[in-house]
Amino acid sequence: MSKRVAILISGGGSNMVALVRSMTGDHPARPVLVAANDPAAGGLDKARDMGVETAAVDHRAFGGDRAAFEAALMAELERAAPDIICLAGFMRVLGAGFVTRWQGRMLNIHPSLLPKYRGLDTHARAIAAGDTEAGCTVHLVTPALDDGPILGQARVPVLPGDTPDTLAARVLEQEHKLYPAVLRRFAAGDLTPVTMD
Ligand code: GAR
Repeated sequence: MSKRVAILISGGGSNMVALVRSMTGDHPARPVLVAANDPAAGGLDKARDMGVETAAVDHRAFGGDRAAFEAALMAELERAAPDIICLAGFMRVLGAGFVTRWQGRMLNIHPSLLPKYRGLDTHARAIAAGDTEAGCTVHLVTPALDDGPILGQARVPVLPGDTPDTLAARVLEQEHKLYPAVLRRFAAGDLTPVTMD
């Protein structure tokens, strides 16, 4: 039986598109829901165009009540009954209760070589530090931000003259390869980390 995958996004959803496109043929999983915390997230239309069910739970409607927002998001997820949840450019920090409900089954992609540069502005921080390589990480989500067992990493060079935008574009290209590779392996029950250079 195919594993059911829900994907959470906040914006354009290019990683979500890469994940959905990968789940065909003999892939051990299928997408069942794409949910966003912003009804205007561009990825929602892309998901609908690919025939995937969507949901929007606008965090702003909850006026800073994170528990209420997370309860509404949880209800959407429970309806979809996913086996695996992929955070793909989902830009809200999730509380311990939410994370614990799905622990061991929730993946995230982060645009740095964790444990370096948890949080935001990863590319600017890598350039400012004079790093010669950057990259992205897929990891299991735990209550600590951008922490949790690493399931895969891909590396790219930082080139002379790079700006946060040029570096982000180079890393994003790798994200689109790494995340589908990790999801395929994870859905098959294999937690061996994927390495891409
Ligand atoms: C990606 O680079 C992803 O790694 C990053 O947001 C971008 C989303 O792009 N995620 C984070 O920074 C999470 N803290 P996408 O919407 O085109 O997939």
